[in-house]
Amino acid sequence: MNINKLLRKKPLEAYNEDIKTSQLKRTLGKWELTAVGVGAVIGGGIFVLTGVAANQYAGPALSLSFVLAGIGCLFAAFCYAEFASILPVSGSAYAYSYGTIGEFFAWFIGWNLILEYMMGATTVAVSWSKYFVKLLHLSGIHNIPTWLINDPITAKEEALRLGISPPYFSINLPAALIVWVVTYILVKGIKESAKTNNIIVSIKVAAVLFVVVAGIAYINPANWQPFIPTKIVDNAGMSHYGFEGVLTAAGIVFFAFIGFDAVSTQSQESINPIKDIPFAIITSLIICTILYILVSLTLTGMTKYNELDLGAPVASAFSSVGLNWASLLITIAAVIGLISVMLVMLLSQTRIFLSMAKDGLLPPKIFATIHPQYKTPWKSTILLGAIASLIAAITPIEKATKMTSIGTLFAFAMICIAVVILRKKQPTLYRPYKVKHLFLVASLGFGFNVLLMFSLDKSTWLRLLVWSVVGIAVYFIYSAKYSNLNKNSKNNSL
Ligand code: ALA
Repeated sequence: MNINKLLRKKPLEAYNEDIKTSQLKRTLGKWELTAVGVGAVIGGGIFVLTGVAANQYAGPALSLSFVLAGIGCLFAAFCYAEFASILPVSGSAYAYSYGTIGEFFAWFIGWNLILEYMMGATTVAVSWSKYFVKLLHLSGIHNIPTWLINDPITAKEEALRLGISPPYFSINLPAALIVWVVTYILVKGIKESAKTNNIIVSIKVAAVLFVVVAGIAYINPANWQPFIPTKIVDNAGMSHYGFEGVLTAAGIVFFAFIGFDAVSTQSQESINPIKDIPFAIITSLIICTILYILVSLTLTGMTKYNELDLGAPVASAFSSVGLNWASLLITIAAVIGLISVMLVMLLSQTRIFLSMAKDGLLPPKIFATIHPQYKTPWKSTILLGAIASLIAAITPIEKATKMTSIGTLFAFAMICIAVVILRKKQPTLYRPYKVKHLFLVASLGFGFNVLLMFSLDKSTWLRLLVWSVVGIAVYFIYSAKYSNLNKNSKNNSL
C-alpha cells in the first residue's frame, strides 16, 4: 500500500457537504448540550470507583487524584473545543484527525473511540446492575441467584468467597437488559432521548449535591489525617498510597471524567454548534470536576478511607453514619442516573459510526441508514445494543473499566497532537474558538494522558495491543478499499 493513501485527508469542503446533507434534526441548545456532557460524565466513576480508589490507593488524597485526572481532561477538552468549533460534525476525534493527519490515523482513533463509548456504556451497565441489585436488597428482595446477576468470572470468585461450588452458567442479566432499554429509547429518536436525558441529569446532579450538603455535617476532619497515607508495596509488587498510589487512583477515577467529549459527537444535532459545542464541553467538565472534588472530600471525611465500601461507597458512607434513608435515596438516584450515561455513550458511538460509514470506512448500509420516521441510525443502534448487551452480560467491571480508560486516554493524547498539527498547517483557518498558549496546553494534555495510560497494568496494555492489531487488519481488508477518498486518486490535502 502506498504511504500517501494512509495519509490522505478528507478535504474541508467535504465536511461542509456532510453538514448540509445531514438528515439528523437540529434540536439541541447550549444547556441541553451541557446536560449531554454532564449526563455522560457523572456515573459509575463517582458512584462506584471512588471506593476502590480511596480505600486501596489514594486514601483521603482521592480529591488530589480527581484533580490530576481532571487536569489531563481539561487540557484535552480545550483541544477538543478548538476542533469542534472548526469542524462542527458528529465524528468527534475521528473526524478531526481525518481532516488533519490522515485516513489511517483517523481510522485508528475511531477504532479506539469504540473502547471509549461502547466499552464505556458496557462498564456503566455493569455498575448499574450492582446498584439495581442493591436496590432490590434494600426493598427486601434477597435470594437472587448469583448466576443471574454476575458475569461468569465474578460468579466464580463470589462462589469461592462464599465457599460454595461455582455455577455452571452465569450471566449478568440486569446489565444485559438495561442496554436493550437504552437501545430502544435511542432508536425512537434524539428528541425523546434529550428530554429523558435532561430529567435524569437533574436527578443525578441533585443526588450528588445532596451527598455534599447532607454529608458535610458528618465530616470528621480526623479522617483526613494522614492526607496521603504512607506508601505500602503489596506481595504482587503493586504500590498502595503514597504519591504512586495517588497516581494509580487518578488512572482509575479517570473513568469518572469520560464522556465530556461526547458533546462533540452531537454537533449535527446542535442548533448553533460553532459556539455551543465548545461552551458545553468546557462547562460540563468544570461542573463535574468541582462536584467530584466536593464528593471525594465529603466521603473521605465521613468515613475512614480504609473503611470505605468497595461496591457502593457513596450510599454506604451514609449508612455508616446511620442515615439509611439517605442511602436509599442515593441508590435510587444512581439507578436512574446511570441510565443517562449509557444513553449518551451509545448515542455518541452511533454518531461516530455514522461519520465513518459516510466516509466509506464502514459499511454504509448498516451504519449510515437513517430511519425514515425517527431520523436515527437505527440499524447501527440495534447492532451496537446487541454487542454491548452481550459484553455487559459476561465481562467483569474491572476489565471493562480499564479497557475504556486506556482507549480514551489514547484518543485524548492523539487529539492534543492533532490540534497542534492543524494550527501549524492551517494557521489562518477561521477558528471560532482558539486555545491560548496551544503548544503548552496540548503538550501538557498529551503528557498527562500518557502518564495516566502508564498507571494502568500490563494486561490492559496487552488487550489494547490485540484490539489495535484487529483494527489495523479491518482497515487494510475493508476500509482502505472502500474509502470514499479511494474513489478519487488525487490526495486532497488541507
Ligand atoms: N464518566 C462516566 C462514568 O463515570 C463514564 O460512568
